[in-house]
Amino acid sequence: MRTHYATELNTQNIDQRVALAGWVNSARDHGGVIFIDLRDKSGLIQIVCDPAHSKEAHAAASGVKSEYVVRVQGRVRARDDRLINPRLKTGEIEVVSDVIEVENKSLTPPFEIADVKVAEDTRLRYRFLDLRDPKLQANFALRSAVSHAMRVSLREHGFMEIETPILTRPTPEGARDYLVPSRVHAGEFYALPQSPQLFKQLLMVAGFDRYFQIARCFRDEDLRADRQPEFTQVDVEMSFCDQEAVMTVAERLLADGFKAAGIEVKLPFERMSYGEAMEKYGTDKPDLRFDLPLVDVLDIFKDTALKVFAQIASDPKKNRIKALKVEGGETLSRKEIDALTEFVAKFGAKGLAWLRLKDGALTGPIAKFLDPTEQRRLIETLGAEDGNLIFFGAGDKKTVLDYMGRLRVEVAKLRNLIDESLFRFLWVVDFPMFEVDDAQNVSALHHPFTRPQSLDGAALEDILSIAYDIVLNGFEIGGGSIRIHEESMQQRVFEILGISREEQQKKFGFLLEALRYGAPPHGGFALGLDRLIMLLAKAPSIRDVIAFPKTQRAQCLMTSAPSEAEEAQLNELNIKVRKKQNKGEQ
Ligand code: AMO
Ligand code: AMP
Repeated sequence: MRTHYATELNTQNIDQRVALAGWVNSARDHGGVIFIDLRDKSGLIQIVCDPAHSKEAHAAASGVKSEYVVRVQGRVRARDDRLINPRLKTGEIEVVSDVIEVENKSLTPPFEIADVKVAEDTRLRYRFLDLRDPKLQANFALRSAVSHAMRVSLREHGFMEIETPILTRPTPEGARDYLVPSRVHAGEFYALPQSPQLFKQLLMVAGFDRYFQIARCFRDEDLRADRQPEFTQVDVEMSFCDQEAVMTVAERLLADGFKAAGIEVKLPFERMSYGEAMEKYGTDKPDLRFDLPLVDVLDIFKDTALKVFAQIASDPKKNRIKALKVEGGETLSRKEIDALTEFVAKFGAKGLAWLRLKDGALTGPIAKFLDPTEQRRLIETLGAEDGNLIFFGAGDKKTVLDYMGRLRVEVAKLRNLIDESLFRFLWVVDFPMFEVDDAQNVSALHHPFTRPQSLDGAALEDILSIAYDIVLNGFEIGGGSIRIHEESMQQRVFEILGISREEQQKKFGFLLEALRYGAPPHGGFALGLDRLIMLLAKAPSIRDVIAFPKTQRAQCLMTSAPSEAEEAQLNELNIKVRKKQNKGEQ
């Protein structure tokens, strides 16, 4: 039906006869001559339907509207110099048509293709039209190229692709499960996998040595711009390896994937401990495209006249006082400072103190409380210079690190400090093994199958794990760990997590059993493919790299999923719906 895709044509094809097929991007009548912008998956080309040249083609073209499906035959010719369109790849040429065939009509679309002002809900409702946007099409071409390259790379390094079940038992990764009722076993449920974690470990016990899978994962959690309820992992596991070996595989895999996108990645990636990342950047996924470190200044405020700060400084284990120095920050307006104060307040900040350094002296709302020694120590510790503005966050450790970390990013955006062309990879290592909340509930920071560096001696909070995350430009794009391969250690970790022997058997009996039959030392990682492509494509949302994504409320607006089930189906599944919640309510 076609000899070429639109953008395969250029001045080399002048005078050639061609056949094209695609959609009418737009049609304009200019004094009897009709110009059609024809769009196919490659891009646009101008078709000219001149009655002086072909009455039939002109007649056929006179009825077409946007999004009609047409086939075109004609001859390529050069455009007049003054009509060259430098914004089009095919802007130097056009096709003078003598045959136009309308293959199908189209209703007037609810929005113009690629119009950026259309509400996302409307776009998602008509996703099949939305996806005609060349920008989105490019995202999927990129995604296909990168995942292909990763597959090739893994196979070259001896990894075997193996599929694991979707109907399975719960795999804890910290989210809620999606459950699927069993018809055959009344009252029983499968869970959709949050990841292939347990199966890939069992494949190591089975002796496959190196496994990978481009695997769909399902997590019922609160959604954000970088989170979907179903998403894709490039999932990898290997035996007889240490952390270094796994990291090397992950780095090469990423380098090969990025190469397919035309980006050279420098190896090895930088590394930072979880502890350092938290103290210096207030997050375990710092964006290193800019510096702006948080600086510990608690010590300086130990005996200060500023009561709130002195009080907070009296408990250096529980609390933090962090400073953020903004170069040239003296130009920040009062309004901007107030907006930043409101911003951190949303994350629990009790205030946002600040100081300015001007002519060697500190000014600002808290300056009068600070004696000369305190002022001098602050200036020295921060290496502050004239024109700097310094923000202070004081309070309990967790809250201060969180909002000061967010403030750091907010300030970087406000001051244009982020070089959008950069890809800054970072390994975050030495994660704590456990998290203990205020109610003394213990949970695993990664997952309960992660190997602790040592279980002995230390307080629970201080036990580290052999776990590592890959961070790119402030996003967690992957993570993994060396696993526990001995039953006794796995049982001890379950016990610490408050999982009774009985519950261990019920939930993870198959894993514990497998560990009894010669489980090799093993470890691995998983990359979040959607996030990775989102960053590569510089797309604002993960939804832009998933063909049929869900909304923030986990709905598919095109198919109207989720939806109520038929009474008969529910009966067959032995399910009684107790109380109907308002549709879409969480
Ligand atoms: P983890 O839970 O860190 O590890 O997941 C790995 C990576 O998957 C991506 N990711 C998501 N992407 C989109 N939407 C989501 N809801 C979502 N949740 C996670 C992230 C994350 O880094 N089994 C372990 C891996 C291992 O230990 O080998 C696991 O699933 O980019
Ligand atoms: P106040 O004495 O309460 O008016 O506070 C003086 C300055 O310190 C104001 O700029 C407050 O925003 C700020 N401030 C108060 N509490 C904190 C805190 N916990 N952390 C950071 N700044 C604070």
